[in-house]
Amino acid sequence: MNNFKSVAFSAMQPSGSFTLGNYLGSLKYWSDMQKKYQCFYCIADLHALTTLNINSNLEKNTLDAVALYLACGINPKKSIIFVQSHVLEHTSLYWFLNCHSSYNELKRMTQFKVKQKSNISFSTAGLLNYPILMAADILLYQSKKVIVGEDQKQHLELTRNLAKKINSFKKDTFVIPETIVPKYSSKIMSLLNPYQKMSKSDINVNSTIFLLDKKESIIKKIKKAVTDSDKDGKICYDLKKKPGISNFLKILSSIREIPIFVLENEFSRKNYSDLKQVLIDEVSTVIEKIKNDFYFFRKNELFLKKIVNEGAERARFFAKKTMNKIFNLFALLKNN
Ligand code: TRP
Repeated sequence: MNNFKSVAFSAMQPSGSFTLGNYLGSLKYWSDMQKKYQCFYCIADLHALTTLNINSNLEKNTLDAVALYLACGINPKKSIIFVQSHVLEHTSLYWFLNCHSSYNELKRMTQFKVKQKSNISFSTAGLLNYPILMAADILLYQSKKVIVGEDQKQHLELTRNLAKKINSFKKDTFVIPETIVPKYSSKIMSLLNPYQKMSKSDINVNSTIFLLDKKESIIKKIKKAVTDSDKDGKICYDLKKKPGISNFLKILSSIREIPIFVLENEFSRKNYSDLKQVLIDEVSTVIEKIKNDFYFFRKNELFLKKIVNEGAERARFFAKKTMNKIFNLFALLKNN
């Protein structure tokens, strides 16, 4: 670990198959961060417990996530790849933060309201407190930068507020993290209903492109994707009149990392099916590469387990330092 580099942190839940939305929203940008920062990349299995049931195959999904991180260019020699539940300090810090979190702020979180609606009969404290566990993940490592997709920005604000509150008891307890929402990342929408986010849990699989999709299904899904009822046939970004076409432009802009207006120029004399064809080619190229690397790493479970075992050990070292500070701050009797 290079002591002079500041820390960057990010995480994903291992809740089943990852989507093109997960990749373009956040994961794509993780490997570049390794050049400038000491990165901690966590697999947030405890977060997954808020929505998964007891029979979900977390063990398999967690190993999938490790292989995916590697396939996306995370280098375990540089970065710390680890599983959240392996570092018990996450839940310990979570409790301290719980005691300083505002119930009113938590119940206003957009994601909580959406998730609560989809499971109205039983909304758990875990669902409500989910952002506090995120705050613990981040603050435990004194993270300076946190990469998230657009939908997690609000949770990062809450994290910053909590950190400032604890720092007001004793300054410099935590580094106040800055949120990075990558410039060309965007919230990718469902292919069949572009008013709704692309989601792995959509009942219609044709709405969602998965990172391990076969080429034939990518072709089929993009061909079937809704364009727009607007009949002028023009390719331009207009969320109201052309949500479908706008979604295609967002995907392409994220893949190529160029602004949307450049694409509007490129496609000014082309039609919807030209755009779909380019999309098919470029999405398939991205996914083919990830998929090949994923299967290459996924074969070797021992290797994947070794990576997260070592990762947890390295992470624990830093986590313990922060927890020492916290135990001192709250003047708990030490058990030694
Ligand atoms: N909640 C995030 C998601 O579902 C995953 C996550 C957990 C995370 N802890 C985090 C992201 C800390 C950033 C920082 O996408």
